[in-house]
Amino acid sequence: MTRAPVVAITGATGHVGRAVLPLLDGGPLRLVVRDPRRAPRGTWPVAQASYGDREAAVAALTGVDVLFMVSGSESPDRLDQHRTFVDAAAAAGVRHVVYTSFLGAAPDATFTLARDHWATEEHLRASGMAFTFLRDSFYLDVLPEFGGEEGVIRGPAGDGRVAAVARADVARVAATVLADPEQHAGRTYDLTGPQALTLTEAARIITERTGRPTRYEEETVEEAYASRQSYGAPDWELDAWVSTYTAIAAGELATVTDTVERLTGTPPLSLADLLPRAPEIQARARGTVAAWDAEAGFGHVTLSTGLQLWCHFSNIDAPGYRALDVGEEVDVELESFEDQDGFSWRAVRVVRDPR
Ligand SMILES: NC(=O)c1ccc[n+]([C@@H]2O[C@H](COP(=O)([O-])OP(=O)(O)OC[C@H]3O[C@@H](n4cnc5c(N)ncnc54)[C@H](OP(=O)(O)O)[C@@H]3O)[C@@H](O)[C@H]2O)c1
Repeated sequence: MTRAPVVAITGATGHVGRAVLPLLDGGPLRLVVRDPRRAPRGTWPVAQASYGDREAAVAALTGVDVLFMVSGSESPDRLDQHRTFVDAAAAAGVRHVVYTSFLGAAPDATFTLARDHWATEEHLRASGMAFTFLRDSFYLDVLPEFGGEEGVIRGPAGDGRVAAVARADVARVAATVLADPEQHAGRTYDLTGPQALTLTEAARIITERTGRPTRYEEETVEEAYASRQSYGAPDWELDAWVSTYTAIAAGELATVTDTVERLTGTPPLSLADLLPRAPEIQARARGTVAAWDAEAGFGHVTLSTGLQLWCHFSNIDAPGYRALDVGEEVDVELESFEDQDGFSWRAVRVVRDPR
């Protein structure tokens, strides 16, 4: 009887690696992390290695058959680190590497970091080990963060489209491949979400779903570099940030594939699926303002029953907003929710000034 292959997972202290763990089929597993104190707890052995440390990597990967290699954090020498780790894997006797690459990885890809991914793929191809490349689009989970505190997504993306993919779907594909790696040897999978959105459409979905006003403001390439100068980032990082948008403008992220569904049997998550829902409004009530923070746009309203509830104006930049006076009568929208005592009400926002 042949023994079950030993699978090693890197990046398990991060989003994608951690998301793969519960989906694995229970075969022998090993985590390879930089800091074992932060490794997810489980019955699995944990080995310590960073990608750039060949000696530690060979030790960590000896006895491993299949390696899930999550690409490392962006840094000027990430490619060297990746190459060191790939060489260590080959030296340790790993037979197959499943690598998280990037959609459209190419030496001349507009998104500068996609060039590193291409070079890592090339190194893996030349390593003699079997490989499977998961070429992920941008992560859908990250898209809502593009708008920052202000809720404004700024960049030179024009009206280009991006079919971003959820990390959870990348993890589901990875688990599928790891369950039967030989079937996926030599394959390159383009992983996207279910729809290619312009950033204006993405902003609209974020606004509608979360109630948090978000919009897209187009910048020129020059404006994009200038608006990011104050972060003090090195040139390579600025190039990566700006080319995230120019790659979208160039149409390099617009492809929608059926790979997630084909490999996992379940359609990929959409942007709306990932976003928290705005509270559901179930009732309106008249109340009196008990306290109001004019700048923040929230305060307490006492309902006629005596119940005091926290509430806010959903968008204090909206034309209807004005500071409320203590003692003033207002209408508020209410949602219900379950608290420790069971069922309760929460005031969501002031909707109308009855005066
Ligand atoms: N497609 C996209 O939109 C997109 C967006 C962001 C990132 N990415 C890439 O996708 C990867 C996975 O995404 P994620 O969301 O899971 O990222 P994440 O949460 O930042 O996790 C990255 C993981 O990789 C580990 N790691 C990073 N550099 C390493 C190194 N030099 N040696 C060993 N381990 C290293 C980290 O370990 P520590 O906990 O020790 O740091 C962490 O466990 C990222 O690392 C990045 O390369 C893609």
